[in-house]
Formats: sequence, C-alpha cells, structure tokens
Amino acid sequence: MRHAYPDGDVFYRRLDRPFPLAVSAHGATIVDEEGREYLDASGGAMVANVGHGVEEIAEAVAEAAHIGYINGLQFTQRWVEELATELRAVLPDELRRPYFLCSGSEAVEAAVKLARQIWVECGRSSKWKVISRVPSYHGNTLTALSLSGREHYRRIYGPLLTELPRIPAPDSYRHPESEATTGEALEREIERQGADTVAAFLAEPIVGSSGGAVVPSREYWRRVVDTCRRHDVLLIADEVLCGMGRTGRWLASEHFGLTPDVLVLGKGLGGGVAPLSAVVAREELVTTLAGGSGAFNHAQTYSHHPVSCAAGLATLRYLRRERLVDRCAALERPFFEALERLRRDSRVGDIRGKGLLAGIELVADRDSKEPFPRSARFAERLTAAAMARGLIVWPNTGHVDGDRGDLIMLAPPFTIGEDEIGEIAARLAAALGDIE
Ligand SMILES: Cc1ncc(COP(=O)(O)O)c(C=O)c1O
Repeated sequence: MRHAYPDGDVFYRRLDRPFPLAVSAHGATIVDEEGREYLDASGGAMVANVGHGVEEIAEAVAEAAHIGYINGLQFTQRWVEELATELRAVLPDELRRPYFLCSGSEAVEAAVKLARQIWVECGRSSKWKVISRVPSYHGNTLTALSLSGREHYRRIYGPLLTELPRIPAPDSYRHPESEATTGEALEREIERQGADTVAAFLAEPIVGSSGGAVVPSREYWRRVVDTCRRHDVLLIADEVLCGMGRTGRWLASEHFGLTPDVLVLGKGLGGGVAPLSAVVAREELVTTLAGGSGAFNHAQTYSHHPVSCAAGLATLRYLRRERLVDRCAALERPFFEALERLRRDSRVGDIRGKGLLAGIELVADRDSKEPFPRSARFAERLTAAAMARGLIVWPNTGHVDGDRGDLIMLAPPFTIGEDEIGEIAARLAAALGDIE
C-alpha cells in the first residue's frame, strides 16, 4: 500500500508526498518495509541522541507502563524521583529541580509562565515581557511561536500571536561585527522597553535549526548575562535542541560558563523513546514560589508522567555509563573534518557547529553569500535527494530574511561510528551533485 494522502487514514505531516513505512531501527539506521536502509544523520528532528533500538531503554519504558497513569498532583513515583536525582549529577548545582512535561513547546511556554509568576510573587507585576531573537525557534504553540523568529511558521497565524519584543540573533557568518553578534542589541532593547516591564530573555545558547548551529562567542554570552543581571531580567536558556550532550557537553551553556535562571530541556532528554521535556529553575526561584503561592501555576495532565520519566531515566543512565557525551565531544573533529569535503561544491557557503550538531548553509554565490531565491527550494530538494540516497537530513529555510536562506542540519546519534560519519559526508556530497 502507498502511504500517502488520500490513500491512508492518517493526517500525514505532508499531504503532497508518500512516506516510507519504518518497520525497525538500530543504531543510526532506520529500515523500511521494503528492507531499504536509511542512515539517520539528523536523529530525526535532532532527537535520537542514543540512536535507535536501545533495548534497556525500551524495557525501562515497558516496565513503567505497567503502572499506567499516575497524576502528578496526587502522587509522586519512583521514575520521576530517580530522574530528578540522576539529572542533578549532570546539571549545575543551582539547577536542581526539574518540572517534567512532554514537548519542547510546552516547556518553553511553562518557562515563560514561570518567569512571569516569579515576578508577580516578588511583588513586581509590571514585569511581563519576554525578549527573544530573530531567527529563532522555540516551538509551535501560540506563545512559543510568538517568541520564535520564523516567519513562514508565523505568517498565517499572525492575528493569534502575541506581540513581544524580538532582537536580531548573532550571525557570525553574515554579520560578524553587528550589535546582535556582540550582544549589545539586548541592552538597547531592554532600555527601549523599560527594564521594569521585562521579565525574561529567551535564547538558545547555541542556535539550533533556526540559524543553523550558530556558536556565538563567549563574550556574547558574558555580555548578555551581565545585561540581564543589571536589569533584573531572568535568563531562560532554551536547550531543547542543543542540550543533553548534543554539543559535546551536557549543556551548551557550559561552553560559555553560563548558568541560566531557567533551563528548558526536551528532544534528547527522553532519548526519543518517549516524549519528555523539562523546565529547570534555579533553586532560589523555586524557594520564592514555596514561600509564596506554594506552587507553579501550570497544570498539565501528562506532566511528571512515569513512562516519559522512565525513558529519561534509562536514557540518562545509558548516556552516563557509556560516556556518550564524551564520545560526542571526541567525534566533533572527525565529524567536521569529514564534512569539509562538501566545500568542494561552491554552493556550500558555510559549515559550522559544535559536538555532533552541524549546520550547512547553502548559497547561490559563495563570495557575496547571496542566498538562493525561495522558489529554488534548495534545502528541500537537497533533503529529498539525500533521502533518495538513503540519508536522512533536516532542512531549514528562511533564516536570512524570513523568506530566503537554506540550511541542512546534521545531528547524528552519539553512538555513530567513524565509518558512518564518512558515509554521511559521502552521501550528502553525492546528493548535492544530484541537484542543479
Ligand atoms: C530550540 C527549540 N525549542 C523548542 C522546540 C519545540 O520543541 P517541540 O517540537 O518538542 O515542541 C524546538 C523544536 O524543534 C527547538 O528546536
């Protein structure tokens, strides 16, 4: 049977093309019903950090499933308790109390609400605005989307979005000297808005798919932290994509000596085996709530869920025991060295990233950095060409001006072999050669 609209009964993610039916997966390989193998170079949506088919994680999830639904307001249970404790071993001491949810979007929304609630409970209820950046991506629910700088996701929902201040994100490839890249833009925006109205600044320490693995300077983050402190603005680090080891450290924040006030985790936190995200606040913020209203005012039916937490717990134990974050850091060099061969194609403008997170920026003209016209659909065509060669990559578009800009994101599992890294580079180079 062809798995495509309107043949199947599913409301597929795309209604204009067929889908292969995945039947099994192991390591960095996904197998479809025809026995065709795909090398998963993006961990799906930058999720599958431990690879596919890790038996001990599947077993842990199955075991937790036996207890069924346990509500987080009525009970605690061992999976949530143990996961919170296990996380303490890898997170900064100040960030020791995770509040578990399911998706990154939910966790971003919760982080923003938490920041607002903190200021209200501190008697400073004029502080409500959250400043974010463009380009950026923080999720697809309405507030997370309001905070995201991704025009093509936002366009048709405009009337439903909240107007919130956004500043340009650092871009060391196109605008190395700009205020955005140096961190000055935040200071100006807080002053423009009035610090007494600004609750928080939300940003990814290392930009994920929206900007193509942009690694800002240490100085950028030093400045941002200093600006936030001076203006009593909470710093929310969205590490949904770049956290949990993806950049070769448990948190991308560590590369910059940065400890946020509120941390958001997701994607790889549950190993991709069950939906799991978390909001982790500094202890003093939790203490404020404990001494005030007594709770974070954010109820969700599936928060603190045993099955999701079991996936997180087993994933974290596996990552630690197998020293996979160290492995991710050690593979950074061979990974980026292998990708260098792509530069032989003049349409590859930049290759950047950290650990096992890479962004490849594709341009019409390498000297002027002129992007392709959107009508060329370059990133999408390259992704399809890669898929035809059995290689899964993640496209992103629009980061240059909300319309133009073509990126390919790579985020293979930390268990990937060096031979497979070579294969990723070879297949991507061949796919580039397949398209005009
Ligand atoms: C940085 C970042 N934040 C938040 C999200 C939203 O996460 P989810 O898709 O799980 O809702 C994403 C998803 O790609 C992301 O990359």
